[in-house]
Amino acid sequence: MQTSDQYAVFGHPISHSKSPLIHTLFAEQTQQSLNYSAQDVPAENFASAVDQFIARGGKGLNCTVPLKELAWQKADRLSERAQMSKAVNTLIITDDGSLTGDNTDGVGLVTDLIRNHQIELKGKRILILGAGGASRGIILPMLEQSPANLAITNRTVSKAETMAEDFSKYGKLSGGGFSNLASEQFDLIINATSASLSGDLPPLPDTLLAEQGNCYDLAYANQDTPFVTWGKQHGAIKSLDGLGMLVEQAAEAFYLWRNIRPETQAVIEILEQQRG
Ligand code: ATR
Repeated sequence: MQTSDQYAVFGHPISHSKSPLIHTLFAEQTQQSLNYSAQDVPAENFASAVDQFIARGGKGLNCTVPLKELAWQKADRLSERAQMSKAVNTLIITDDGSLTGDNTDGVGLVTDLIRNHQIELKGKRILILGAGGASRGIILPMLEQSPANLAITNRTVSKAETMAEDFSKYGKLSGGGFSNLASEQFDLIINATSASLSGDLPPLPDTLLAEQGNCYDLAYANQDTPFVTWGKQHGAIKSLDGLGMLVEQAAEAFYLWRNIRPETQAVIEILEQQRG
């Protein structure tokens, strides 16, 4: 019996994931016959859960917290952007059962900024807050847009410095700590720390955002994150959270699996309505 192609998102926890809704809407819109589910997979079960999914004939997986690094390790081959980010959010299962790993987070962010919000990156002074996994995932696609410079600032300064060094062959970037920000100004500030998740805000000088600047928090929530609020209070033209990036990274994964690009605007609107 022929059934629909199977896809899933693995993560832990996973019950609040919006990915099944997003991909189901993409599939309806593009008339693709597929089924996308969410599976709670703790890190220690990741390898066997992937093997079982492949054995059942699964076609592709998304991996989220805390599995992206394990997915990077398990992939048989990696795109350059995944290789550099040391994290995989999309696995493509090929006909022979091997795994191609990719990371669509960065391109999702760039698409949301440029296409959905008309925030250009070329020639701009950009600051990324944080030097963890989320930050590493977005740097290469950001550098490909040729910003004037890209600064990475982190609480643990050595991690920002190492990250800047790792990506130095791709563009102009620097790493430092929050104390270096006192006399700096940026056209775009991106919060890639996990501070929002615990209701915290990194220590930012009041003068940090340039006139006509924008703010973007990779995290999203039903209400403004502390960083989105900071942006609004400090004159940002737009102060956005990561809901659009979530949909755009999913669209890129859908394209990798099905070779067809879903239209994202309607899906973003549905998610916006859902959160009221
Ligand atoms: P993720 O995968 O979400 O990036 P991570 O790899 O654990 O998670 O990285 C979390 C990032 O948020 C780090 O850059 C961390 O700073 P440190 O490297 O100094 O730990 C940053 N972070 C977390 N809470 C923060 C806070 N309250 N203020 C500033 N930075 C914070």
